[in-house]
Amino acid sequence: MSVVKINVLTVPAEMREELERRFANRAGMVESSDGFEWFELLRPAEGTDRYLVYTRWRSEDDFQNWQKGMAFQRGHAQAAADAGRAGGQGQGHGHGQGPAATDSEVWSFEVVQSAGPKS
Ligand code: HEM
Repeated sequence: MSVVKINVLTVPAEMREELERRFANRAGMVESSDGFEWFELLRPAEGTDRYLVYTRWRSEDDFQNWQKGMAFQRGHAQAAADAGRAGGQGQGHGHGQGPAATDSEVWSFEVVQSAGPKS
């Protein structure tokens, strides 16, 4: 059964553009991780300041292995540096300006049912 892991980022309005720019320049290593199935960055259309970093994996173990592995570390080196520069305030997706997000939390789901377009 596939699992979905969503990193929920609270992004102040003035940091939205910067967050999206940083993802546009992301490492792109997750795509070659074992058991990786899908990634999407979801921008809130209305009513919330929370972006969703949606990932889907073949299994919980595949996600855990990615999160413990080099690809996660490489993909997050910049964020760690920015969080360090900003004195550890908040967590975020950042390059040089400090974290773009003021908060993050992970939501976990199991895919019980799924469907795609009829071919
Ligand atoms: C400690 C919390 C986290 C921080 C500070 C953080 C920060 C970042 C940063 C900075 C990037 C790359 C964009 C850039 O270089 O600016 C990134 C990419 C990414 N993050 Fe996070 N992240 C965190 C946790 C997570 C978690 C838990 C997930 C999964 C649910 C996740 C999913 C991703 C994915 C899929 C990418 C793209 C990686 C790639 O392109 O190889 N992040 N994150």
